[in-house]
Amino acid sequence: EKGGFDSFMAKEIHDQPQAVADTLLGRVDSNGRLALDELRIDADELKAIDKIVVLACGTSAYAAHVAKYAIEHWCRVPVEVELSHEFRYRDPIVSPSTLVVTISQSGETMDTLMALRYAKEQGARTLAICNTNGSSIPRESDAVLYTHAGPEIAVASTKAFLAQITATYLLGLYLAQLRGNLFRGEIADTLADMAAIPAKIQSILDREDEVKELARAMQDTTSVLFLGRHVGYPVAMEGALKLKELAYIHAEGFAAGELKHGPIALIDEGKSVFVVVPSPRGRYSMHSKVVSNIQEVRARGAKTLVIAEEGDEAVQDFAEWVFRVPETKTLLMPLLTVVPLQIFACELAGAKGLNVDQPRNLAKSVTVE
Ligand code: M6R
Repeated sequence: EKGGFDSFMAKEIHDQPQAVADTLLGRVDSNGRLALDELRIDADELKAIDKIVVLACGTSAYAAHVAKYAIEHWCRVPVEVELSHEFRYRDPIVSPSTLVVTISQSGETMDTLMALRYAKEQGARTLAICNTNGSSIPRESDAVLYTHAGPEIAVASTKAFLAQITATYLLGLYLAQLRGNLFRGEIADTLADMAAIPAKIQSILDREDEVKELARAMQDTTSVLFLGRHVGYPVAMEGALKLKELAYIHAEGFAAGELKHGPIALIDEGKSVFVVVPSPRGRYSMHSKVVSNIQEVRARGAKTLVIAEEGDEAVQDFAEWVFRVPETKTLLMPLLTVVPLQIFACELAGAKGLNVDQPRNLAKSVTVE
């Protein structure tokens, strides 16, 4: 069942090219236009949406964070991201022109289900992004966009996360198409880049030994920090969550720009810091700021572990270790940069002799509030 891997998690990490490909499958027509007829919300209603609220927990909430960057950029609609359990109890503002999107692998997360019910009571239109056919959250939503990652067994979410990002991007591009926010060519171009992602993930998996070696060497580490900016910020938080839940190591993800506002005080000799670096081909100032962050923590003795694009020469001199990911659009980078962080946590937990698939104190689906 584990397909020759040591754990379901390792297998599911390797399933990711397929999970992304399957989530794209059948949703783009031969003219490069999105065909999301499966959404049961009327196109006119979707055009009239003036706010999107995305609700989720854990890893699914990090997919929501990533989605915000893309959907706001493409659709020019405000997107709020909130943890389901926080949303439910704070008197949030939703109306019939609000689209509430829930993201859940299991479709049974009680916190998200309760938030969905609350949003419906307030008159919002609801759309579920879910990996489990016929589960409670999609059943109770107006519309569903299934992620086709296949069953996810390991408690730690991996392939569902990539499929969720893929699905939210399809939704974002579909809304942009309906609302005329993007030129046809831009949508087709982005979809073509998304179609190229599975092979790029595979090329990362083919080099997983580079990450595994680092993980094994770091099995006695007690604290690891993760920095990222823009879409790299939720990736940093996801990298930290994976390490906490699997390896029981203190780990924290930060927005790189926040470093000087406090977290840099944590840096001392030998502290391990992963830095997710945006593409130098994107906004140059963003890239150079993150490179400065690497220099800043390095100057204070940190061990800098860098995830950077192929050909990004600027990081080389300040990195203790560099892992290269293939080039893609900035917004698509999370689909690549998170993969080495998943492998790292999985391998480190395995090296410590821990149960990778069933970490202590956790359940695959959290059906209590
Ligand atoms: O099934 P869901 O996507 O609603 O689950 C949400 C979280 O409980 C889940 O992502 C959790 O954080 C995972 N253990 C993360 O690896």
